[in-house]
Formats: sequence, C-alpha cells, structure tokens
Amino acid sequence: MDRRAFVGLLGGGTLAWPKALQALDGVLARGGAPDDEAYWAVVRAQFLIPPDRIYLNNGTLGPSPHVVVDATAEHARRVAATYPPGVHWDDLKQAMAALVGGDPEGFVFPRNTTEAMSFVAGGLELDPEDDVVTTDHEHIGGLEPWRMVSARRGPTLTVARLPVPAPSSQALLDAVWGAVTPATRVVSVSHVTFTNGTVLPVAALARRCSEAGVILTVDGAHPPGMMELDVGGIGADFYASSPHKWLLAPQGTGLLYLAERWRARLWPVLASGGWDDLSLGAQRFNHMGTFDESRLAGLLAAAEFMQVLGMPRVEARVRYLRDRLQAALEQVPGVTVVTPAHEELRAGMVSFRVDGVASLDLQADLARTHKVRTRVISEYGYGWMRLSTHVYNHPAEIERVVELIAAASRRT
Ligand SMILES: Cc1ncc(COP(=O)(O)O)c(C=O)c1O
Repeated sequence: MDRRAFVGLLGGGTLAWPKALQALDGVLARGGAPDDEAYWAVVRAQFLIPPDRIYLNNGTLGPSPHVVVDATAEHARRVAATYPPGVHWDDLKQAMAALVGGDPEGFVFPRNTTEAMSFVAGGLELDPEDDVVTTDHEHIGGLEPWRMVSARRGPTLTVARLPVPAPSSQALLDAVWGAVTPATRVVSVSHVTFTNGTVLPVAALARRCSEAGVILTVDGAHPPGMMELDVGGIGADFYASSPHKWLLAPQGTGLLYLAERWRARLWPVLASGGWDDLSLGAQRFNHMGTFDESRLAGLLAAAEFMQVLGMPRVEARVRYLRDRLQAALEQVPGVTVVTPAHEELRAGMVSFRVDGVASLDLQADLARTHKVRTRVISEYGYGWMRLSTHVYNHPAEIERVVELIAAASRRT
C-alpha cells in the first residue's frame, strides 16, 4: 500500500468520494435529455448492476451507485481505524434541504419510513375519542404504527377507499376527505402509493387539514429521488421517507421532516440526552444512541450524486421510461393497467394484472429464467405486478420485459 493511501486510511487524508463525484459532474453537467441514451449509458455505468440483470424494483430498494457504496465503506473503514469522522449534521441537513426542499433544521434521520412513522404515531397525544384516517393503499410501514397506537391508546382507525385507477386529483381528495369527521385528529396517507404508484394531492390535502385543525402525516417513502419535491411547501405536519429507495442511499437510511410547529412539541419515542431540551428542536430526534453513521455518509454522497444529475433531469428520465413501459403494457392483450392515466397522478411505477396469469408465478418466472426483478402487490388481495423505472434502466430493458409479459399472456 502506498503511503498516501495508508495515511488516508488512518483518517488524515481527504475523502476520495467527493473527488469521484467532481469528476462525474464534469462528465454529466451537459446533455441528459430523457432520450439521450449516450448520457444515460454513462449514468448506468455508475452502478454495480450486472449488464444482464434487469432491475425494476426500485420501489422496494434502490441500488446504490459506486460513489455511495464507496462513501459508506470509507466511513466504516475510518471508524474501524479508530479515526471516526463523526456525522456532519449541518452538511447533511443542507444537502437534504437542497434536494427535497424544506428548512434544514426540520430534518431527522431515522433508519427508514417505518421508524419515522413510528416516531410520529408514538409521539402524538391521542385519546380513545380520536380518529385517524388512512387509506386502503397504505404500506405496513405507514399503517402499522397507527394500528399499534390504536390498540394501545384507543383512537379508532378509519380507512378511506381510493379509486383505482384514480380519474383525478379531486376524486382522490374527495375519497380521503369523505372519511374525515369531527373526531378526526390525524390524516395519514402516502404521497405516492406503493400499490400502483398513484400521486396523491398532498398539498391540497394539507390545506384542508390545516383549515380543519387536523394533523397531516405524509408517508413519502417514494418521492425523494423520484420527483421534484418541496417537503416544506407541501404544508404537512410530518413527512416520512426512505432515501434507500429512489434516492439510492444505503439500506437503512430514513428521513423525517417536521413542520416547525412540531419540532419542540412532538414527544420522542426514543430518549437520549437532550430529548427534553426543546431549544434543540428537531435535532432532539437525532439523538439515538450509537448507530451506524456510515449510512449517513452514504446518504450525503447519494444526495450529492442526485444533485450532479439534477432532479429535473432525473424525474424526466424516470417518467420517460415509465411512459414507454406503461404505453407498451397497455397494448398487450390481456393486460389491465391499474396506474392512473393522467401524468399528474403518476410518476415512477406502473402496476397491472395479466388475465389468467398469477402475478406471483409471472414474477418467479421473470426472476428465475430472465434475471428480471419485480414486485408483486399481494397486500389487500390486489395481486398486481409492479414495475419501477429509474435512471439506471434503459429502453431496451423495458422492451425486453414487455415482450416477456406478452409471451406469458399468450401462453394462457
Ligand atoms: C409507501 C411505503 N411506505 C413505507 C414503506 C416502508 O419502508 P421502509 O421499509 O423503508 O420503512 C414502504 C416500503 O416499500 C412504502 O412503499
């Protein structure tokens, strides 16, 4: 090992990943129209995904690019070398605010959406006479914290039924608001549903909630890294997310954004030093005892990787690939798409069923024989297949998968 590398390992050298990112910035600063395949091929080369593998399950977990893996590993190496770099909270909060909006002081970094939602549900004072409105498209990570609080403290849960596919934002808003009564204390909905990728009108919902004195909690597991976003501008009380999905951060990296009115008011469910020092605001919730800080180093690198690409470019590519996929699926006989048709109601995921084909069988066949990774939405008995498109995918992959699905449909 040369001396410089050795000094770097001991913690004296500068970090390597920012330099790699800077070099990438030079290459990726220009171009990047949604159909600029030469540009997106350079982006794909930043990932560890083997060329023969088609990964269409970013909705569950995003594969991190090299720079994120390196930043995470570099941090872990320094900890092992007994030169822990610590967490640079300000850098991290500034980077998140630059990417997803909001005020840097509002960010908390739990391990995932499940933990973020648990912080909210467990931290609010709710009584047996209160009601929490949710929907029939919530993921367990956004639902179970409320079910647990309901079992323990007595507030009831009301489940609003969302239209499928949703015809308009107004129809979604009406469906949720129709379940609200004078007993409603909290509305808790997904920003983008995991079931069929529907985008809910959360800003309009936030206005209604605010007028009615109802707390709005948004399960935003998907939007950061998928679409342009302003977590502060939405006006919700809480916004929870999992940057290990579309933001491509390391596994076990969550996000919780608290509106200013809650930072000194929400009860922590995890208490460490400073939990009762209200002057710390949302930072109280970042005091979690010893935890894996390397994932936060990875999160910072992921946020900076996304900034190099730029969210407008990322969202345009995600939507371009999703459009091609959805349009091609709609042409396959026997396929019924359950993701909305309107652009404002959809983003990076398409869900569908194939007549006469069990989605779990199709999923197993695609994985075993063709190295295609998908997700089946068995929850609520929906039985849909869900495909996600992200910046590392390319049109030839989409065409191949649609061909395979068409072949499965023909076999019935
Ligand atoms: C909408 C939604 N909420 C919550 C979760 C749970 O995320 P995590 O496992 O990162 O807590 C998921 C995971 O797929 C999800 O899609």
